[in-house]
Amino acid sequence: MDLKKSVRSIPGWPMEGVIFRDLTTLMLDPAAFQKSCDILYERYKASSVDKIVGIDARGFVFGAVLAYKLGIGFVPVRKKGKLPAETLEESYSLEYGSGTLEIHRDALDSGEQVVIVDDLIATGGTAGATVQLVNKLGADIIECAFLIELPDLGGRAQLRNCSVFAIMEFE
Ligand code: PRP
Ligand code: HPA
Repeated sequence: MDLKKSVRSIPGWPMEGVIFRDLTTLMLDPAAFQKSCDILYERYKASSVDKIVGIDARGFVFGAVLAYKLGIGFVPVRKKGKLPAETLEESYSLEYGSGTLEIHRDALDSGEQVVIVDDLIATGGTAGATVQLVNKLGADIIECAFLIELPDLGGRAQLRNCSVFAIMEFE
């Protein structure tokens, strides 16, 4: 199965010049959804991952499935103002805007091994801010995992010392 075929491309959304890679079509296709989750599970099942860190909002879909399959906890990194307990925050910029992400201070312990999951890496701003949050809590990042990488936008460079895995690439 060619997973790339299950991704819908929408030129000019949310603004001119952007080709939006829409993963809702992949999620709607049970075989494609299962295959992408299985690829992630197979990749990390033998690593000693303590927790999955998923990024708001589409990273929650794939990150939560992976955490469930691995039998470990899931930590949401959320857009500012959504997490109720004490948080750390980090600002970032992305392809079309900017924002601030937060993590609960008590979500990770120092020395824990985590995998960060999001649907897509573009400029790397979002994942880069998440890496900073995880580092501030003293956890170790095994890898940052994405379904899609847009290599032309150079996102890997934002993740400096982190290993990066992406199932698919799009121009
Ligand atoms: C998208 C995507 C990534 C991020 C990638 O999320 O899901 O999180 O942008 O872009 P970057 O690599 O340039 O930072 P978005 O901010 O649109 O939020 P959403 O998941 O809530 O729609
Ligand atoms: N698709 C989905 N999310 C995104 C994209 C995209 O093409 N670019 C930045 N975030």
